[in-house]
Amino acid sequence: MPFTVDSELDLLFPTDQIPVEVRKQLPQELHLRPLASTDHKRGHLKVLEVLTVVTDPGEHAWRAQFEALRAAPCTYYGIVIVDKASDRIVAVGTLFVERKFLRGLGCVGHIEDIAVDASQQGKKLGLRIIHALTGISENSGCYKTILNCSDKNIPFYEKCGFEKKENEMAKYAPTDRAQTPRL
Ligand code: ACO
Repeated sequence: MPFTVDSELDLLFPTDQIPVEVRKQLPQELHLRPLASTDHKRGHLKVLEVLTVVTDPGEHAWRAQFEALRAAPCTYYGIVIVDKASDRIVAVGTLFVERKFLRGLGCVGHIEDIAVDASQQGKKLGLRIIHALTGISENSGCYKTILNCSDKNIPFYEKCGFEKKENEMAKYAPTDRAQTPRL
């Protein structure tokens, strides 16, 4: 599949919200851009498989999820790194901007679902994804950017400029109750 330029894609948010200095640090053969409405066919879910179990809901349902994210403006920033030769996605990450009542109606950026294809790990793509998302978070006015990770990924996030703070708590819903939100 030939590489598709941003102007021919239907993007989640404008490309110029990704810091240009991060985009320039990528090698020529790779391209960093917002998630696009047609990225299901570029292997978006396949890349996420390095992170956890992924069930493909089909292209139509994937697209509906994309539209639900886009319907909440200035909130969801999904980004991808594309290999130009194959037009396939090789790395992904998301920033979710939470609006608060405290800190003078402040915002917090939450980094979620960072994944680099196994064949591309160790080439600084994860670092670029984190720097891009942190840049979007700070340019959006977020007073902090936070994430949860396993102990084994702590050194990676320290290299990205993060420090350990407090603890994560979780309570999983019974499996028969977990479902797509009713909107
Ligand atoms: N332990 C120690 N150092 C590490 C580790 C690690 N596990 N992973 C990366 N680093 C270091 C690298 O050596 C590099 O250091 P350097 O600058 O001194 O050379 C630096 O961190 C940057 O590494 P990258 O090359 O950018 O890492 P990569 O592109 O492989 O991405 C990632 C890291 C995202 C963890 C990738 O390996 C991956 O997709 N793993 C599987 C999925 C996963 O665990 N995702 C994160 C979940 S947490 C979340 O989503 C919020």
